[in-house]
Amino acid sequence: MVSLENDRFLRALMCEPVDRTPLWMMRQAGRYLPEYRATRAEAGSFMGLCTNPELACEVTLQPLRRYAMDAAILFSDILTVPDALGLGLYFSEGEGPRFERPLSSAAEIDALDPERAASELDYVMDAVALIRKELKGSVPLIGFAGSPWTLATYMVEGGSSKDFAKVKSLAFNEPAVMHQLLGKLAKSVAVYLAEQVRCGAQALQIFDTWGGSLSHAAYREFSLRYMTEIIEQLPREAEGRRVPVIVFTKGGGQWLETIADCGADAVGLDWTTDIGEARARVGDRVCLQGNMDPTLLNASPERIRAEVDQILSSFGAGSGHIFNLGHGVTPGIDPDHVAAMVDAVVELSPAYH
Ligand code: CP3
Repeated sequence: MVSLENDRFLRALMCEPVDRTPLWMMRQAGRYLPEYRATRAEAGSFMGLCTNPELACEVTLQPLRRYAMDAAILFSDILTVPDALGLGLYFSEGEGPRFERPLSSAAEIDALDPERAASELDYVMDAVALIRKELKGSVPLIGFAGSPWTLATYMVEGGSSKDFAKVKSLAFNEPAVMHQLLGKLAKSVAVYLAEQVRCGAQALQIFDTWGGSLSHAAYREFSLRYMTEIIEQLPREAEGRRVPVIVFTKGGGQWLETIADCGADAVGLDWTTDIGEARARVGDRVCLQGNMDPTLLNASPERIRAEVDQILSSFGAGSGHIFNLGHGVTPGIDPDHVAAMVDAVVELSPAYH
């Protein structure tokens, strides 16, 4: 079995006993850190940073130098997969991610080659291997990908969207075409995640940022079904240890029971669900990850500590909780406020174990 100095993240994912609640933070490497902004400037662009394994490794490790995080997350982006499929990803200032060639016809979807995702993403695999080496067994490395539905929203809309009008029209008017696209994305993501495990990822998270935009029935049909397909295809053991999978559907709180049945080891919660209630609903089946409102990091350190205390006490005693935000940390946050959150978890959570 692979030796790790700190394995409380992997232990909590399996609901095994831990000395304190493990934590990491979605988007923990990012623009709220001055050292990230400096490395990004050196890289010249966000994609320049993602495609340079040394710099991607550097920014992955930056938050670990500051904070007592119990896991590292690969520095990359969910949209590298559609980029590898030929859509031409770019980031325009103030607008977020865009595609040069968004999908606009059934013929374009038919022409997508799911195998390309893995073959074009060597730079990600080089980053995974390098990060694993540089972590030197300190904490586990999380690999990740976007859910097929979330990737499809960007691929069809051409970028971020408020109402998902185009992608939903496709889903509702041409369901067979939508299913063809989602099936291809599930294949790409499964191969891509398996490759990350082969190169050293020790846990995996599927980000389903926009699953919560769907109705109950449409969520099952267009999002959950394909995450389940991916999980079925993943290697669940590497280096003599389970490779746990976390599924995070933002806005998925009302569907926890069905999500907990998709084969994942853990379910990520956004901040709109009470974690104690979530535990009562599904906590005997899966580990729960979350779920502080990221905007609370704008509040005073005292208020942040009180919120951490509230979340820990709501979950209650025992393992099966990974502390995290309910979504990614945003650019304007004061790094000292992140420290207040981390210190509160480290100091207050041993009482629950
Ligand atoms: O968690 C981590 O630290 C790992 C790195 C990571 C990034 N993006 C880096 C990034 C991860 C896991 C992601 C996932 C991601 N990317 C998601 C799913 C999670 C979520 O937040 O909902 C989504 C929807 C994307 C797509 C994406 N990438 C958007 C919408 C943006 C623009 C957002 C913004 O704040 O401008 C990105 C760019 C991006 N990805 C940045 C980072 C650090 C900022 C780019 C920069 O440095 O200019």
